Amino acid sequence: MKLTVVALDGPSASGKSSTGKAVAQALGFKHLDSGALYRAITLVAIGLREDDGLAIVGGCESRSLHLAPLGSEIVPYLDGEPVSDQIRSPAVTRDVSQVSALPEVRRWVTAELRLAVSKLGCGVVVDGRDIGTAVFPKAPLKIYLVAEPLVRARRRMRQGGRGESGPKDLTLEAERLRARDEADSSREVAPLRPAPDAVHIDTTHLAFQDQVARVVDLARKVLG
Ligand code: DC
Repeated sequence: MKLTVVALDGPSASGKSSTGKAVAQALGFKHLDSGALYRAITLVAIGLREDDGLAIVGGCESRSLHLAPLGSEIVPYLDGEPVSDQIRSPAVTRDVSQVSALPEVRRWVTAELRLAVSKLGCGVVVDGRDIGTAVFPKAPLKIYLVAEPLVRARRRMRQGGRGESGPKDLTLEAERLRARDEADSSREVAPLRPAPDAVHIDTTHLAFQDQVARVVDLARKVLG
């Protein structure tokens, strides 16, 4: 299989990572969640109590933060170990938009994503916010996933094991997502936005298997 990138972008909780994982599995590709690397950097920044981009990048290098395969996933390794649960903490989620807006951090992540993908020699589904616009602008297939905020909030709460919730919790979660989308869309470097040639898929009324099937069908048509 030659190197092929499927770029999967969209706002928070639009289902990018779960869709990306399932699409990669169906196509026999690897999956890379680029948000996980921004989260790992944010974990380093919190540990350092730093908000300067160069100092944060220096801290990441001194702890050997890098991407490497773990089964069919490409995941961040910190101090020689894969990081997963810690990067989903509320503190990381609160600070990640601010850290990921720093130009030095974005430059470092973009280079690390390209390097990790270039080492694969196989197809890969990469999800994030700027994959089709900035990281892999020549990707042969670019998807932009969207869904209504309340639907995304409900999915995010179920995903986090918080179950069915009352309307107040749901509205609060939708407000948190809206604030993060606003921060991600309004930053100066590589803001969240669809590439001009991205295929938009609104998953508000789609079952998970159907949204996966749509992307897999498109990939098979485009990639042959
Ligand atoms: O997908 P996620 O919620 O785990 O992403 C965490 C944050 O990382 C998100 O608020 C914005 C940032 N991010 C980014 O700026 N560019 C990417 N390609 C991926 C994530």
